[in-house]
Amino acid sequence: MDGLRRLEYRGYDSAGVSIVNRHHEIETRKCAGRIASLAKLITAKPPSGSFGISHTRWATHGKVTDENAHPHVDATGKLALVHNGVIENYQALKEQLIQDGDDNFRSNTDTEVLAHLIGKLYVDSCATTVDVDQKKSRLVNAVRTALRQVIGTYGIALVHAEIPDFIIGARRGSPLVLGVGKEENFLASDVSAIVAYTRDAVYLNDFDVVAVERGKFEISSLAGETGDRQVSKVEFTAEDVKKGDYEHYMLKEIFEQPNSVRDAMRGRLSLEECTAKLGGLNMTPQQLRDVGRIVLTGCGTALHAAMVGEYVIEQLANIPTEVEYASEFRHRNTPMTNDTLVFAISQSGETADTLGALRESRRKGHRTLGICNNVASTIARESDGGVYMHAGPEIGVAATKSFTSQLAILTLIGLLLGRMRNLSTAEGSRIIGALQALPSQIEEALNLSDQLKAIAKKYVDASGILFFGRQFNFPIALEGALKMKEITYLFAEGHPSAELKHGIIALVRPDLPSVFIAPDDAVLSKNLNNMEQIKARKGPIIAVTSGNGAKQLKEVANEIIVLPDAPDCLMPILSVIPLQLFAYHVAVELGRDVDKPRNLAKSVTVE
Ligand code: F6R
Repeated sequence: MDGLRRLEYRGYDSAGVSIVNRHHEIETRKCAGRIASLAKLITAKPPSGSFGISHTRWATHGKVTDENAHPHVDATGKLALVHNGVIENYQALKEQLIQDGDDNFRSNTDTEVLAHLIGKLYVDSCATTVDVDQKKSRLVNAVRTALRQVIGTYGIALVHAEIPDFIIGARRGSPLVLGVGKEENFLASDVSAIVAYTRDAVYLNDFDVVAVERGKFEISSLAGETGDRQVSKVEFTAEDVKKGDYEHYMLKEIFEQPNSVRDAMRGRLSLEECTAKLGGLNMTPQQLRDVGRIVLTGCGTALHAAMVGEYVIEQLANIPTEVEYASEFRHRNTPMTNDTLVFAISQSGETADTLGALRESRRKGHRTLGICNNVASTIARESDGGVYMHAGPEIGVAATKSFTSQLAILTLIGLLLGRMRNLSTAEGSRIIGALQALPSQIEEALNLSDQLKAIAKKYVDASGILFFGRQFNFPIALEGALKMKEITYLFAEGHPSAELKHGIIALVRPDLPSVFIAPDDAVLSKNLNNMEQIKARKGPIIAVTSGNGAKQLKEVANEIIVLPDAPDCLMPILSVIPLQLFAYHVAVELGRDVDKPRNLAKSVTVE
């Protein structure tokens, strides 16, 4: 239950557990709702046993009901299975099982079909009496045979009532990690579930099947070949995944940003050469000089970081840079030249669409680098190199600290590539100085939390919120709106400020505030014009500015939030902080479940 709670942020519409008891029966407790509901079921009727599997679900196939919660059992009721991912051909498999006489389906899930398929193959292979060791190898074989028939993605774990102390796991497309303990071993989809028990982990690869026992484990491929695997040390501790004194993980993570941004830059600045050092890119200086075009891809918040990255890299390095939604990029034929360098940006390193984009790009022969937080993730392992964020675990479903780390890293990339081209020593040195100042400037921005709380209280009854920004801060408008939507469920949209007059202005009315990200930069006066257009139509205005901007905005804005000044290309790292805090405080005012907003999951390992 402790491990399951640590994974709740990944999916939380239903939960369940299956324990094998000493009478060789499977005891399952499962229900729709949060883990707290499951805990009540368990307390009311505790299962007994010392090995089992559990799951917290984010629905893909089948509604959120007790029956559709995992684990699912096979037709005999002796095999229980949990599954992340999607079995795309489950209908065809189910029809075949029904034709073969299986009329025992209880749910509408793709997962149950897999449980039934493995169960049938196992029963068929055990026609004669076999001992426990033979049962183990036959169950592993049944898993392999079933998975070879499956189209789709899976991270699974299963137990069988007749085989004590034996759990099988397998993965394709959904993460699975083995925790290696002393006389105990664990399987989980994320190390945070097991880090309190062991920091030794083996990250499984696609098509691995692992047979786990108390004192040993064996990893083999779907084809049955076995091989040794490296045991890695998990780089964070159980303390890092706790909330501490904060009311929510999201708030803790917002307040961690001075450190996480510092950690993203640690050891990566060369003061002497006024450039960045990014050894993980695995590229020679000549290869870096030969880069003629850059594609940045990701989803959600990571995509917004990419959009800022486009402005930053083009400004510092003057290399044409494109941003592609990972989900679109992987399915379309983006024209790519041989000198194109691709970056896949992902906090979790497991997002299915971003992973798909990475694979597609590599398939076409492009060097593809990762910008990931999770060092052992699939994207980190499958890319040709990259830059780790070192932001520490991000548990709040709404991404915050990973975003500012991504921005810091994209700036380092721009700086490095720029200094190999036309960026002068003086300009490189100015950027480095400004980067070094960021952590303490973020502290200053965090001090605005009380002001944002007061603003949140004032506008909590708004019918929706619009966000506007220009240039480097246009993607920040998108990110501010995304944060607001995700955790408050208010309608929110972000736009380039000047787009206002091309349609959006029709929405403006007194109960729809507009947030302008309008620092004291070259486009402040243009933003001011757009604010006037809203004011003339009685729309309230909340302005996020910097330096001396407040003076110019005081006549037009209803609320003014003042940030410290930074070079234009670094301003987004500061300007996003009040927007994170604003969304957070509105969500708290509305009584929302900040860390686990409805319908969302932290790591989206399905398409
Ligand atoms: C927004 C959010 C999502 C993620 C997106 C990509 O707050 O959390 O939009 O940014 O699902 O996730 P990663 O970065 O793990 O690939």
